[in-house]
Amino acid sequence: MRLLIVLSIIFAHGACDIADYYAKRAKLAEAENLLTVGGNYPLDHKETIVNRCLMQHKYRELDYAFDNPQYFNCSHHFFVYKNKMRESKVYKIIKNMPKGAALHVHDMALLGPDYVMNLTYMDNLYFCFKPDPVLSGNHLFLQFANQLPNKTCDTWQLISDARRDAKNVTEFDFNLRKHFTLVVDDPDTAYPAITDTWDAFMNYFTTIIPLVTYRPVWEQYFYDALKKYREDNLMYIEVRSVLPNLYELDGSTYDQIVTAKSYKKVLSRFIKDYPDFEGAKIIFAPSRYVGNAELDAYIETARSLKNQVPEIFAGFDLVGQEDKGKPLIDFVPKLLQANDLNFFFHAGETDWYGTQTDGNLYDAILLGTKRIGHAYALTKHPLLMKEVVEKDIGLEINLISNSVLSLVKDLRNHPLNTYVANGMPVVLSSDDPGAWEAEPASDDFYVAFVGASSRLSDLSLLKALGENSLKYSALEPTRKAAALRKLNFQWKRFIDNFDCSKY
Ligand SMILES: *[C@@H]1O[C@H](CO)[C@@H](O)[C@H](O)[C@H]1NC(C)=O
Ligand SMILES: *[C@@H]1O[C@H](CO)[C@@H](O)[C@H](O)[C@H]1NC(C)=O
Ligand SMILES: *[C@@H]1O[C@H](CO)[C@@H](O)[C@H](O)[C@H]1NC(C)=O
Ligand SMILES: *[C@@H]1O[C@H](CO)[C@@H](O)[C@H](O)[C@H]1NC(C)=O
Ligand SMILES: [Zn+2]
Repeated sequence: MRLLIVLSIIFAHGACDIADYYAKRAKLAEAENLLTVGGNYPLDHKETIVNRCLMQHKYRELDYAFDNPQYFNCSHHFFVYKNKMRESKVYKIIKNMPKGAALHVHDMALLGPDYVMNLTYMDNLYFCFKPDPVLSGNHLFLQFANQLPNKTCDTWQLISDARRDAKNVTEFDFNLRKHFTLVVDDPDTAYPAITDTWDAFMNYFTTIIPLVTYRPVWEQYFYDALKKYREDNLMYIEVRSVLPNLYELDGSTYDQIVTAKSYKKVLSRFIKDYPDFEGAKIIFAPSRYVGNAELDAYIETARSLKNQVPEIFAGFDLVGQEDKGKPLIDFVPKLLQANDLNFFFHAGETDWYGTQTDGNLYDAILLGTKRIGHAYALTKHPLLMKEVVEKDIGLEINLISNSVLSLVKDLRNHPLNTYVANGMPVVLSSDDPGAWEAEPASDDFYVAFVGASSRLSDLSLLKALGENSLKYSALEPTRKAAALRKLNFQWKRFIDNFDCSKY
């Protein structure tokens, strides 16, 4: 609307002279800038000084890449540049910046392979290998137990025994670690198509699940994850979980409510240790590869969560590769009956325009989703774009995930730039950062800032993205207001202590 008024003023008079022309051009550019995310945030005096430092480094990086496009990190595969990227000055500034919340992360990929490797040093951990039916090589199975497990394999062995007997422990661990990450030296060869990436990704989960669902590990993993997210200057997270059944050494298992309660317990312990951390909520997000009967059971579980752990339960979603799983439309009759739950649907995580997967965007919005996970395909739907703005539906953008999971190679082509240009309600998150060895927030913020937004986007954008992450969270209004004040306090401290010469 604002833009229309400006345009009509500009086009009502012809360009009489060149000065007039330049003035009109500048007005257009200014009007466009005002529309962008953060475009109407004025920076105060101190912020302007920080911004000058930040932008000086951003221009240097981008202008070098403009002249030497082969060196532009964000146009390559994330695995190729992720370590280099962390040397960038812009990156280091972003790393230290308060970033609010991560609203789209999955609980079994919060931490990376180095952390997981440490878990393999625990007692009572058995392992076995079986040839993988899909990928070349062997699939690793793990199980904590107080006696030799008797399912899946005939060749279970204690990891501690195998490691003790290994000729070369470094090599033993090096080979083991490969099962806890998607990162490889040559991603284009390892993952020629999206199905290959997803097969490896699903394999990652089958290996990880029995490792982290051992109850003591589960609790420690979540605690350590919160610690890592806080260290990356986040204060709040919303975790999507299939809520797996936890187990003990004797093989006994617990129901899903116990898993949810374990989150609550760990969270209280963490907040006692780190009172500046705002907290976490869970979104129950089981597999979309199910029939209607299982969906009924899911909804029932979601309702008991809402009753039994209301303070940490945010809502419901379905997960799994959207192209292969059931489309939302198959579940619409049941989901319409479940509108007592808040929905946070994954939708439009696809390159396939006009397919059923693409159509998930219609259902997510019509079903009243509070936010959309990915919304990658949204730009192809002008009316849905309008709905998103009118209903103020947060778009959870996961740039590195989209690149690693084979939707987009060059992040300059990611639709985030369109959402930012239109001032749409975007938040940044990292999806499964542990699986591709990304940081909880900094890596995604960096590639958003340098790769997927305008060269001219500045500190205002980063500040707005941090605020959006709390604004679109599932926090109750009073807690949300408190969290925003906390962020504002952290931001002021960051600005006050900023020293350009340190970068
Ligand atoms: C990636 O970024 C780093 C740090 O700014 C830079 O040194 C490097 O040249 C860039 N490009 C590549 C291809 O690594
Ligand atoms: C793994 O354990 C070692 C030794 O306790 C510790 O120094 C290291 O920080 C741990 N690594 C991770 C990623 O937690
Ligand atoms: C396999 O292990 C389970 C639990 O440890 C036990 O109940 C079952 O009897 C075992 N089966 C066989 C064939 O040993
Ligand atoms: C053990 O394996 C590592 C990694 O493959 C290798 O670098 C190292 O030289 C090996 N050490 C010995 C003693 O063979
Ligand atoms: Zn996701």
